[in-house]
Amino acid sequence: MLTEKERNKQLKEIKKSNNRIYKEFNKNKKKKIAESEYLSQMKDSNNLLEIDDLHTFFYTDIGTARAVDGVSFSIPKGKTIGVVGESGCGKSVTSLSVMRLLQEPQGQITSGEIRFSMRDGKTVNLAKAPIKLMQHIRGNEISMIFQEPMTTLNPVFTIGKQLDEVLLLHVEYKKKSEIRAKSIELLKLVGIANSERVYKMYPHELSGGMRQRVVIAMALACDPQLIIADEPTTALDVTIQAQILDLMRNLKSKINASIMLITHDLGVVAEMADLVVVMYSGRIVEMGTTVDIFKNPLHPYTIGLMKSRPNMIDKDEKLYSIPGNVPSPINLPNHCYFKNRCEKCVAKCSDVYPELIKVSDTHSVSCYLYKEEK
Ligand SMILES: Nc1ncnc2c1ncn2[C@@H]1O[C@H](COP(=O)(O)OP(=O)(O)OP(=O)(O)O)[C@@H](O)[C@H]1O
Ligand code: SF4
Ligand SMILES: [Mg+2]
Repeated sequence: MLTEKERNKQLKEIKKSNNRIYKEFNKNKKKKIAESEYLSQMKDSNNLLEIDDLHTFFYTDIGTARAVDGVSFSIPKGKTIGVVGESGCGKSVTSLSVMRLLQEPQGQITSGEIRFSMRDGKTVNLAKAPIKLMQHIRGNEISMIFQEPMTTLNPVFTIGKQLDEVLLLHVEYKKKSEIRAKSIELLKLVGIANSERVYKMYPHELSGGMRQRVVIAMALACDPQLIIADEPTTALDVTIQAQILDLMRNLKSKINASIMLITHDLGVVAEMADLVVVMYSGRIVEMGTTVDIFKNPLHPYTIGLMKSRPNMIDKDEKLYSIPGNVPSPINLPNHCYFKNRCEKCVAKCSDVYPELIKVSDTHSVSCYLYKEEK
């Protein structure tokens, strides 16, 4: 335990070091980035996005939070990938890194590549792309649906004006009437009845579910290749959640986009995703196809998540909850981050953090209980 004096000295040093890091970051931000620095090559041409050893840190007043600490996964073209894990495990920070919408300079991508296959055939490393290019990519190539629709919609403009604006910014429609018609068509696509009337309404005049439909319409406006949905149904009540999920499932077959679906609801993942990534404390602990993860969960954390789902057969059964808490992203231990909560812990678990190993062509896990497939 540190004395108060020692602690104050430590905090002062953290502040000094952070200021140095912020200064360096802001200096680099002003530099012109040559194409050769951000153009890359996809490892597999079937993929739309390849996240490769991504590290995203937050330099806070009490130390460095390793929010995303060496995450690698790919999103194949046309597929839906579910990213699951408890609160604080780094799901949103992963997606904000892809969009380059981190709170800077506190939040920074410190290493790793985020390769994205653009429509024009080029591969861009989003982690290094200049802001101007990112502004083009957001909306045109990748769009995002956030948890709380009210934060996405502007309360002082009508739904129509906001949709028109997205189209004006990104699509080459010339005539006002064409843009209006496209906005109304989008509202119809997301299941809004009487879309001409809704076009003229303000966000506060709509229910939460309707607002989320509008947000989805906005995300679809420019026909993006990738849609990132961060907890798209969490702020809604259960029946509306089901409607929005139905809508998303329906849209999935109508559009060609890949979807990155972030949620802590395993039921949503089971219904929507082709592939699943399970995150814990900024790292991937298990990933595989949806069948791999649901039929044969391996990591004790994934097994715990499965057990904590409501059970429809035995309705009186008490809901299981994984004991303990997620460790702080500042000062993470050297061993498996799940060790203090794990019921299957063995002696080896005190060794260094277990590597992510392949147990089949599609299924990987980071836990000492398993051996690599030969
Ligand atoms: N602006 C920030 N400053 C400092 N730390 C941050 C910031 N944003 C996120 N973090 C930290 O990064 C870690 C990952 O956060 P993230 O928001 O990605 O979690 P999440 O998995 O999306 O959780 P939830 O399910 O609650 O949305 C957390 O420990 C969080 O405290
Ligand atoms: S490595 Fe050990 S502590 Fe970590 S999840 Fe596996 S069994 Fe549990
Ligand atoms: Mg989140």
